[in-house]
Amino acid sequence: MRCPRRIALFIAVMTARLAAVDIVAHRGASHDAPENTVASARLGWSQGADAVETDIHLTKDGRVIVCHDKTTKRTTGHDGLITAMTLAELRALDAGRWKGPQFAGEKLPLLEEQLALIPAGKTMLVEIKTGPEIVPEFRRVLAAAGATERSVTVISFNLETLKAVRRELPAFRTLYLMGYKAPDAKDPKAKRPPSIDDVIRDAKSAGLTGLDLQYSWPLTPADVKRVRDAGLELHVWTVDDPAVARHWIGLGVASVTTNRPGWLRGQLKP
Ligand code: G3P
Ligand code: CA
Repeated sequence: MRCPRRIALFIAVMTARLAAVDIVAHRGASHDAPENTVASARLGWSQGADAVETDIHLTKDGRVIVCHDKTTKRTTGHDGLITAMTLAELRALDAGRWKGPQFAGEKLPLLEEQLALIPAGKTMLVEIKTGPEIVPEFRRVLAAAGATERSVTVISFNLETLKAVRRELPAFRTLYLMGYKAPDAKDPKAKRPPSIDDVIRDAKSAGLTGLDLQYSWPLTPADVKRVRDAGLELHVWTVDDPAVARHWIGLGVASVTTNRPGWLRGQLKP
């Protein structure tokens, strides 16, 4: 028979963790609006997200533009490489129509446009998709927008870029993104995923604030304890399944990134 006191304790811990966890709108409310546009950021905020995540690249003429892919094909229909295009060329594209006619005319935003939408007390997770070459212009844009370490957190898969952010913008929080693909048991040559201890070591040696892991990471409570003991925050992406979100919230993550911020929060209500 299950112990009622343990069940009550479990419910109390889960209730506290559900109340504390931040919900992050992935590329804005990208289930409902075209990703990484002003429309999806606005919708993320209006759906009650605690933070909006947005991806950035550097244009040919050195401006910081918001887009997930390094080319514009998927979200605008025009097959162009962002680093080979000027801001004017990029701004002429339609980044909304692919999601539905009601979004026609949405542009690829400049980072400063997305920063201007952050409500007081909320945070934008800015994912740098490039190498460190973007950091000087990124710093200029943050300063011009009055962004601070309270309103912006920097995330990236690129450790060298995060190290450059630590040097140039030492006050800003930095999260190391890490995907996880289970090794193919039938393929002995398949690339082995890194261990969580490798990831912890790299994040610590770079002086980062924490880890932001793909939901598929097979993390145990003991692994989570080692992340915590290393002084690192733990976050997770991209979760649109309430059961998966509950699993990670049970592990004690600080935030869950989702394409459906309003819907997921509703599903997680006790
Ligand atoms: O929030 C992290 C997540 O956005 C990383 O993956 O491919 O969606 O940029 P991706
Ligand atoms: Ca991203």
